[in-house]
Parts: sequence; C-alpha cells; structure tokens
Amino acid sequence: MAINPPIDATTTPEWAALQQHYLDMQNEGISLKQWFADDPERVEKLSFDAADLHFDLSKDLIKPETLKLFADLAKAVKLDERTKQMYSGEHINVTEDRAVLHTALRRPASDEGKLIVDGQDVVKDVREVLEKIYTFARKVRSGEWRGVTGKKIQTVVNIGIGGSDLGPVMVYEALKPYADAGISARYVSNIDPNDIAEKLRGLDPETTLFIVVSKTFTTLETLTNAREARTWLLDGLRSSGAIDGSEEKRAEAVSKHFVAVSTNLKGVEEFGIDPANAFGFWNWVGGRYSVDSAVGTSLVVVFGPERFEEFLSGFHAIDEYFANTPFEENVVEFMGMLNVWYRNFFKAASHAVLPYDQYLHRFPAYLQQLTMESNGKSVRWDGSPVTTETGEIFWGEPGTNGQHAFYQLIHQGTQIIPADFIAFANTPNPAKDGDQDVHELFLGNYLAQTKALAFGKTAEEVRAEGTSEAIVPARIFTGNRPTTSIFGDTLNAKTLGELIALYEHIVFTQGTVWGIDSFDQWGVELGKQLARQITPAISQDDEALAAQDASTQSLIRYYRAHRH
Ligand code: F6P
Repeated sequence: MAINPPIDATTTPEWAALQQHYLDMQNEGISLKQWFADDPERVEKLSFDAADLHFDLSKDLIKPETLKLFADLAKAVKLDERTKQMYSGEHINVTEDRAVLHTALRRPASDEGKLIVDGQDVVKDVREVLEKIYTFARKVRSGEWRGVTGKKIQTVVNIGIGGSDLGPVMVYEALKPYADAGISARYVSNIDPNDIAEKLRGLDPETTLFIVVSKTFTTLETLTNAREARTWLLDGLRSSGAIDGSEEKRAEAVSKHFVAVSTNLKGVEEFGIDPANAFGFWNWVGGRYSVDSAVGTSLVVVFGPERFEEFLSGFHAIDEYFANTPFEENVVEFMGMLNVWYRNFFKAASHAVLPYDQYLHRFPAYLQQLTMESNGKSVRWDGSPVTTETGEIFWGEPGTNGQHAFYQLIHQGTQIIPADFIAFANTPNPAKDGDQDVHELFLGNYLAQTKALAFGKTAEEVRAEGTSEAIVPARIFTGNRPTTSIFGDTLNAKTLGELIALYEHIVFTQGTVWGIDSFDQWGVELGKQLARQITPAISQDDEALAAQDASTQSLIRYYRAHRH
C-alpha cells in the first residue's frame, strides 16, 4: 500500500495550540518551584509506569494539561495509523522501499501465522533463526562446539560496526553480571588497526571464535577487520604448530572459528564462511534496530538463550504498551513529544542521557546512532524539506562521572539541555563504606542532581550561607532545567530490552511529527564513496592526488612528508 505524504505538523491547529501554550508559559513565567507549590498532585499526575519502568515527568517543563496537547498532536499527525503501518510491515521506509519490522523480532512464538508480509510468515521466520542461534550458542556454551584443536571456546570476538557493533557491545557491558558460561566477548569495530590489535591482544587463537556481523556484508571496516582476524587466526595456529599449513586444515580452522550474521548470505560464502554457520536476518531490520536479531548472537553465546528470551520479552512489553495505550496516558509517546516540545519550542539543540548505572556506560553511545542516524534529516519522507528543526544531539556519560565533567554547563550554562536520568533500585554489587550503603550514596546523587536542576538556588539562599556579595552571582542556580527520571527495580535482560524499545519508539514518535523517514541513512554514504576515491591518492597515485581539492591535497602532502 502506498504511504501517504507526511502531515505537516506545524500547520495543524494542534501545533498552534502547543505554540500558544508555550507562549502562555513564557509570559506567566516558568517556575517548577511555583508549579509544585500550586499543584500538590503534580507528581502524581505526571508519574507513569510502563512495563517494569517508572517515569517521573514532574521536573519537565510541562503542566499536566500539556499532556493533552501532546496527545492531540499525536492524533493530528496520525501516530496511531503510522504505528499500525510499522507493526504490520507496510513499507514505511520509503526511500529504501522497505518494511520496518523490528517489533516482529520480539513477538512471541504464539504469534506465528499472524503477521504475513510480502507472502512470508515473519514471526515463524524469526523464530526459526532464533532456534538456529540458540542451538549454536548452547553448543559453544557447553563445549560441544570446539576450536580446530579441540579446545573449548573462551572468547567470542564480534566484528561489526554501527548497528552491528553498538547494540551488542552496549548490551554485553550492561548485562555483564549475568554472564554465566565462562565465555567473555570483545568487540572490534574501527578500521583503525589499533582497535583489532588491542582487542586481540592476549587472546589464544585456539579458544577464540569470531562472529562477523554485517547486514550488507559489504562494509569496508568489517570486511577489512574480518580478513585481518582470519590472518591472525591462521598465522597464530600455524606458528604455534597447532595446525599444519594445508589448505584443508586452514579451511577447517576457519569453519570452527568463524561464524557470520548477515542478510547477504552470498557475501558470507564468498568470504569463506560456511553458510551453515551463518545466521540470517532481513532487510526490514534497520542496522540500529537490530540488536535483538541475529546481530545479538554474541550475547546469546555469553548470556544464554533463556536470558535472550527475557531480553526480547522486555522489548515486546514496551511495543505492546506503546501500541495499545491511549495517547492521553502513553508515557512512551509523551517522551517523544517532550523531545519535540524542547527541540521545536524551547529550541534545545541537544539532549543528555545520563544513566546512574555504570553497566549502562555504553548506552549513550548506542543511543547516538539510534537517535541521530534516524532523525538527523532535512527532508521528509516525500522528499520535501522539513518544516521545523529536527534531530537533536544525544550525548551523555554515566553519573556520577558526568557530574565532575560537564554537569556545570547543564546547571549554569546559557542553553537548555533536557536530560533523562536513569537509575535502578538494586545493584548486583552491594557495598558498604562504614555504615553507609554505597548504592544509596549513589542514588542520593541521582536524586540530588534532578532536584538541583529543577529548583536551583536563589541569591537569598546563597547569601544565607554567608557567601560574600561579589561571589553570589556565580553561585546562583536558576533552576527550571528540565529532567525526566526513569527508575527501575533492577537492570536485567528484560528491563534493558524495555529501555531500548522505549527509545526506539521515542525516535519513531519524533520522526512521525517531523515527517521523517527515520529508517534510512543516506547521510553516511557520501563519506564512504569519497574514502574509496581518496585512499589511492594517499600513498603514491599522483593523478588521484591532483584530482583532489586543495585542502585534501595539502593534508595528503603533509602525510607523505611525515610517514615513516
Ligand atoms: O554506514 C552506516 C551503516 O549503514 C549503519 O546504518 C549500519 O548500522 C552500519 O553502517 C553497518 O552496516 P552493516 O551491518 O551492513 O555492516
């Protein structure tokens, strides 16, 4: 079915109502302190639960009535219709003419037969690949799958980049306490040879298994690293005398130490990996939406199939919540709308994501691809220019480290930076410092930061501390700096799946308001193309050098003069 052109949100009465609401707020004066004082039920009205996550929006720059305006805008841009189109496999990725079906990756087996897209039973296909991965992972975990010299695998090395790396590495780091098979993982992504050199350091080729992950199986970085890994494996096995140099033994070594994940099984075979050791997925899974597909194979090996099923169930719980909760009370949609609110009305250019959980230290990096590759666009899905600002910059670091680095700017800088604060009530590593529970000390910081950002500190409060007058201005905190608190019981496979799905649908909600195809990424192509043209000029090709612009030529000459 043809996809309708986007609705220009900015020309709707619902947008005008939000604009008026924003102006009214500015005229009246934004004061979270006042809003809390005026409405004793503010927190209750602005707190929500979705699956296992709890959300407090009371320290956002909204009033309870703002939520109704958000819901109205969601209806005006037909967010419900577009959600249905996405979930049912319509080709909403119009520039690539593809369905967008990451929600199908986590549908339960009982949904087999319920989603037929382009003649395929999608859930059945998904479950078949999962079962194949689970069988493989069980063998590696139990030691039934062994390296070419008969040793058990101890390390899996995932080779991929972008969506074929950021999701798996983030989840691996987040769930480390749940690794239960004595197998660790490493992740190689950068084409910079330093990356693979450091990641392979100390590994034993006899106990190392490579998983080459590439949706297209054409990505320069991944194929280059995979070839380097193959050389490292074969040279290592040969030089230690573990294998002889015969073609047969080399092929056997590759088949025991390399598996692949791709939609391009022909490319996998050409690389020399046995298609029997390849796990497929489909072009309706975007790279940055793929961690819950075969792209997560390293995670299944490290954490086990049961844990991976819990992970999928977390995604599914949020998928169901998002699709089935009325817009008037749908916190996932509210968070998407909040981002629109801050980006388009408050003109916020960036958005911080601040996990108060060290295990989530790669979560902001993961979100950077999810959010910015999806919504960093200037044209809408019909090719027309966007009608308002899009894609804010997402960034962040775990608390409390960020507090001692960049929070100064969030507290007292001249720009508004909405921030999501994420924490969990329990830790797998309880600790005491004397009588003090260290996790509670940590949570004290989580709570203190959003409080300081919301309510600030007045000149009177500063003076009351005996501060000399000249220093008072520097110590004032204006407050009214918006934050959303996300709280959970425990960070585990399920709640992590929920968190990821939450942000996927936030991105989708924003993209729908802006009329963007959040599932293509043409903006990364030009650089790739130029790299192919420029690379020959670097070493010696003077003709290629002469074809470059003056700046590129000058930089290449610098390189040639300095290389040794
Ligand atoms: O260059 C961007 C991109 O296409 C991402 O969208 C993707 O996640 C990444 O490259 C890796 O692509 P592949 O999985 O095909 O190697």
